[in-house]
Amino acid sequence: MDKQKLIDALNADLASEFQAIIMYTTYSAQVMGPYRLELSKFMQSEIPDEQGHAQFLADKIITLGGIPTTTPLPVPSAETPKEMLERILEAESKAIAGYSQRSEQAKALGELGLGVQLENMVVDETGHYEEVKKLLADWP
Ligand SMILES: [Fe+2]
Ligand SMILES: [Fe+2]
Repeated sequence: MDKQKLIDALNADLASEFQAIIMYTTYSAQVMGPYRLELSKFMQSEIPDEQGHAQFLADKIITLGGIPTTTPLPVPSAETPKEMLERILEAESKAIAGYSQRSEQAKALGELGLGVQLENMVVDETGHYEEVKKLLADWP
């Protein structure tokens, strides 16, 4: 992997963060049923983390000489609260795998600071993943 490939990969990560922001925003509006209040609040509480990740990536892409994408990955549709949580779990799982890989790639290119920051993002996304996993446990 060279620097341009790393920039491209970070841009793919940025598109996923924009997707996460839109996903949490729209799902929190759409979610219905007896758990609406809690789920809606929970989803909205994740947005500042994802927004922080997006800002970090955009800044870093500029620093590396790239152009940050403005196009989000499409948000998968979900009808029920359970489907929403499952789509979120998939997205968080993908984010963990992506940032784990990206951290190694950054370090291999001598970008240690970026590598460590990406590890911190693995920590954040793992927290999100584990909360959603618990919400889905024994879902009625
Ligand atoms: Fe994120
Ligand atoms: Fe997340």
